[in-house]
Amino acid sequence: MGAVEIKKGVYWVGAIDWDIRHFHGPSYHTHKGTTYNAYLIIDEKVALVDIVDAHFAEEMLENIRQVIDPSKIDYVVVNHVEPDHSGGFPKLMEYIPNAKVFCSKNGKDAMMHHYFGDYQYEVVKTGDIIRLGEKTIQFIEAPMLHWPDSMFSYIAEEALLLPNDAFGQHLASSKLFDDENDLCEVMEEAKKYFANILMPFGPLVVKKIEEIMKMGLKIDMIAPSHGIIWRSNPEKIIEKYMQWGHGTVERKAVVVYDTMWHSTEKMARAIVEGLVSEGVATRLYRASVTDVNDIITEILDAKAVLVASSTINNTMIPHVAHFLEELMGLRPRHKIGAAFGSYGWGKGAVANIEKKLKETGIQLVKEGLEIKYVPTEEHLKACFEYGKEIGKMI
Ligand SMILES: Cc1cc2nc3c(=O)[nH]c(=O)nc-3n(C[C@H](O)[C@H](O)[C@H](O)COP(=O)(O)O)c2cc1C
Repeated sequence: MGAVEIKKGVYWVGAIDWDIRHFHGPSYHTHKGTTYNAYLIIDEKVALVDIVDAHFAEEMLENIRQVIDPSKIDYVVVNHVEPDHSGGFPKLMEYIPNAKVFCSKNGKDAMMHHYFGDYQYEVVKTGDIIRLGEKTIQFIEAPMLHWPDSMFSYIAEEALLLPNDAFGQHLASSKLFDDENDLCEVMEEAKKYFANILMPFGPLVVKKIEEIMKMGLKIDMIAPSHGIIWRSNPEKIIEKYMQWGHGTVERKAVVVYDTMWHSTEKMARAIVEGLVSEGVATRLYRASVTDVNDIITEILDAKAVLVASSTINNTMIPHVAHFLEELMGLRPRHKIGAAFGSYGWGKGAVANIEKKLKETGIQLVKEGLEIKYVPTEEHLKACFEYGKEIGKMI
């Protein structure tokens, strides 16, 4: 796409990955591709903040060349060591073997476990500032947002925050800024990113934003390392991050099920009707045909999570187990839940779902509902009431 000046003397020199659909292995499905955003700051000293994935190193260097000879870069800032942001590091350093590499203490440790050359690392901590000339870069450590090494960079003279993965979205677009894209789409991808990556660290997100507010930093642009740059609406994404970070929930239920012969599906549909009759916004997903990242995104702001499976070989259908395993790792907060399903003889699915929901910290508000083989009309009425009663608790 070529270098783009995003602020006076600050250039986007990253790369667009139009084709990627599976991010860090199979765990995050990037339906809309992504970008790796690297930022070049031109002053008396030249700095590059964040790098790109190894496959895009040449593209980044080409973009840098449109602004300056890469060998003129004095400083490299590694806000986050994960390979999508540092993979291009060895290639870059061939041009600038003596450049100073700024990173957090954990960042240096992680860099040394990824790249084994002899580089000039300089460890920085919150409050440290380097002067480039007229511009400065201030560092803010952000451990576990989302790795121990993570940090933000801040250019006070441009009121520009470079927070790496925070506030980012996996969205490939030829338009770099929020006001040039469909804001609903950008926000939906930001929500998906938060739900699937940052949900376990919600309280840390809130603390970090409060810390930055207290520091009194003026921010009129947030340029993350993936996706769209917040130029016109930085306050909107900060507000959303506070909301998601607090684990704020709505009158909303997500029902996730799977079925072999449709009995559990019939139960699920009747329960959904019960929830809806109480005015609860409800989403129903069949685990085996729905992207688990999309289900998790819907769960982020839902009060209730109902999970269902028929019994197969004394336990739940594996797709439901996969979903529950993902959910457990993300440590959702402030949620209520329940389990249900059909069985034939010895049961097992509902008890195992309940066990998993409890381990996840979801408060079970009703005893599991189990129906032998095919539900009758009476059973379906009971399912409707089951949903209605849960609806009253939401
Ligand atoms: C391969 C297979 C294994 C099953 N294993 C069990 C089992 O271990 N215990 C049990 O109670 N029912 C078992 N069942 C019976 C189902 O749970 C029962 O048919 C149920 O009504 C299916 O509900 P569904 O239509 O929602 O899938 C099994 C069914 C199949 C097809």
